[in-house]
Amino acid sequence: MELQYPARKKIHKNQVLKKGIGFLKVIYVRIVYNLNAFLQKRSARFKTTCFNFGLVLPENETLVLKAEDEKDRIYFQMYQYACRTLSLKEKAILEIGSSVGGGCYFISEYLQPKYLKGIDLIESQINLAKKRHQQHPIVFEQGNACNLKEPENFYDVVVNIESSHGYPDFSAFLKGVYKTLKKEGTMAIADIRYAYDVPKMEEDFISHGFSIQHQEDITKWVLKALDESDKTKREILKDTPLFYTFFKSFAGLKGSRNYRYLAEGKLRYMLYILQKNG
Ligand SMILES: C[S@@+](CC[C@H](N)C(=O)[O-])C[C@H]1O[C@@H](n2cnc3c(N)ncnc32)[C@H](O)[C@@H]1O
Repeated sequence: MELQYPARKKIHKNQVLKKGIGFLKVIYVRIVYNLNAFLQKRSARFKTTCFNFGLVLPENETLVLKAEDEKDRIYFQMYQYACRTLSLKEKAILEIGSSVGGGCYFISEYLQPKYLKGIDLIESQINLAKKRHQQHPIVFEQGNACNLKEPENFYDVVVNIESSHGYPDFSAFLKGVYKTLKKEGTMAIADIRYAYDVPKMEEDFISHGFSIQHQEDITKWVLKALDESDKTKREILKDTPLFYTFFKSFAGLKGSRNYRYLAEGKLRYMLYILQKNG
């Protein structure tokens, strides 16, 4: 009798490619952000509060900050601008991709939430956030955006700044956010995407049960911030000459790939306010 072998599962080539890219993204994120936490502890100058490209506010908008927070103005302005149409006061807020806690600090200090939690994949960054912001009523916890362990129907607002481009499974992320948001809860999400990926991302929002309340291309304001911060960033990176080339594009320095692509329109920095349907 002839032996019967189970049919081999057909795996679509695209799926293999998607998994491979996802795997590489996670390795990249782990290397960059563990290095970030390491340098923050070791280097005298490398003491950044936030890790986004920053944003210069349009002329008609202002943000009043305490004198000691002025050095982080453009990074806090990114949070301010992303959340400006939402009221976070007395609300339950989750930041996904909170890095070393600068964004949570801004939300806690200036936007008066009732409950605030920041999660990040990289434990060493979370440990640093806990240490730096222990005086503030913020919960920091290691967590994976693509496998959220947060309670269902709990948060009023999810904040997600410049983090989602590194996720291996964007669909799993959106499903998790949908679950943890209260009915009609909102997410402020701002990040870079290749221009040709923007329509697909918007389709994903819709197909995962969100309605798009606000959509804005904020590239222009981000490029202004990159111009403004270029000199300071170069100074900071002098402390880490070994990693200069590595961090150049990551920091969006003038002449780097990220800067060029944003200026040429190949990359877009998009901001969305999404609302959970139903
Ligand atoms: C460019 S930084 C932005 C940090 C912060 N939102 C800010 O604006 O300063 C991206 C952050 O996303 C985090 N991240 C990347 N992939 C993640 C994942 N799968 N789950 C949770 N955090 C993740 C990184 O560790 C990093 O701290």
